[in-house]
Amino acid sequence: MALHIGVLRETRPGEHRVALTPDVVGKLVKAGHDVAIQAGAGLGAGWADDAFQQAGASVGVDLGATMVGRNVLVKVNPPNDLELSHLAADAVVIAMLDPLNDQAGIQAIADKGVTAFAMELIPRISRAQSMDVLSSMATVAGYRAVLIAAERLDKFFPMLMTAAGTVAPAKVFIIGAGVAGLQAIATARRLGAVVSGYDTRAVVREQVESLGASFLDISVGADAEAAGGYARELTDAEQRTQRELMADHVAGCDVVITTALVPGRPAPVIIPTTTVERMRPGSVIVDLASQNGGNCEVSEHGRDIVHAGVHVLGPDNLPGGMPVHASQLYARNVQNLLDLLVEDGDLSLDRDDEVIIGTLATRGGRIVSPMLRDRWQLDTEVAST
Ligand code: NAI
Repeated sequence: MALHIGVLRETRPGEHRVALTPDVVGKLVKAGHDVAIQAGAGLGAGWADDAFQQAGASVGVDLGATMVGRNVLVKVNPPNDLELSHLAADAVVIAMLDPLNDQAGIQAIADKGVTAFAMELIPRISRAQSMDVLSSMATVAGYRAVLIAAERLDKFFPMLMTAAGTVAPAKVFIIGAGVAGLQAIATARRLGAVVSGYDTRAVVREQVESLGASFLDISVGADAEAAGGYARELTDAEQRTQRELMADHVAGCDVVITTALVPGRPAPVIIPTTTVERMRPGSVIVDLASQNGGNCEVSEHGRDIVHAGVHVLGPDNLPGGMPVHASQLYARNVQNLLDLLVEDGDLSLDRDDEVIIGTLATRGGRIVSPMLRDRWQLDTEVAST
């Protein structure tokens, strides 16, 4: 038995990624699976249909033709109703399903009876790092956040010594030094800015400093490192302290990039409107947490706002706008998951494996992920009805 994998053209506006690249298709075909790709699916990322054909894929003229006989659908974004309607009940979907935010979407997939893996649920353990899409996409987002800030800023990033005099370097502050934040620090340093960083987990100070940035010395409260290496949510008092102690530093920066998140919680508001109003007109804030409510009180997801002369950007889907490498990383993450799921050429889903159990979102008409059931209190509902 082999997998019959389908790859569809992404339909979300502004999405240029494709779920599998020719390179990964070639490896899957070599392993004995067959892959069908919808015509034009890779074009946004610069891969024509030919490139997939040369890697051994067949090309379907449309959604229906691509999905005939497929038992696995691999996507970047969640499947829509039309795409779901082309799946047999025993089919498997692998995609980024936005599981922590989109309960209705996950339920709709469960209702179809299909088995779905949510790539965002890959456990953050060393063995699963090669499948970790959150890290892959955060790397792209952190990098691009700096580039869009540099493009918007009315100044150079680096210090320049010119015949007309010396140009002072831009001051860039990165709040939240997880995967995206560390990549943003590294990128801003490469562009020559003077960079500072801050995180509520004390353990990242060394990583920030090793990238050539300074760590902002403020004491907000007890170290916020919680189980699994993530941050815990700060108390209301700690959040107030953080906002107050950071205000002067933020006000003196040319660019502030915010990436602070606490899994499963709304993003903490770190930069209030009053602090934005203290920044120099022409300064730039890029709020990577805007989708989760925002670290800056002014930001709105998907919008560029100018407030008191300060550009406040809440970019949507930064990885979707850098599709070649974002697709490459995503496709490898998926391939590594498939390698784990396949035994003797066929899917083997019922093993007692932490990665499989953690990532499986729906099966047999139910939401099965322990994390999602707990989050939405599904066991309680079942018990009470
Ligand atoms: P994230 O996207 O959930 O959060 C970003 C950053 O915001 C975190 O560093 C967090 O400490 C920080 N933060 C939260 N509240 C804050 C506040 N009020 N002020 C300033 N900063 C605040 O985190 P991400 O990037 O997904 O990963 C965080 C950690 O997860 C890593 O450093 C690591 O420990 C762990 N991890 C483990 C992996 C593995 O083992 N496979 C892979 C990636 C991450």
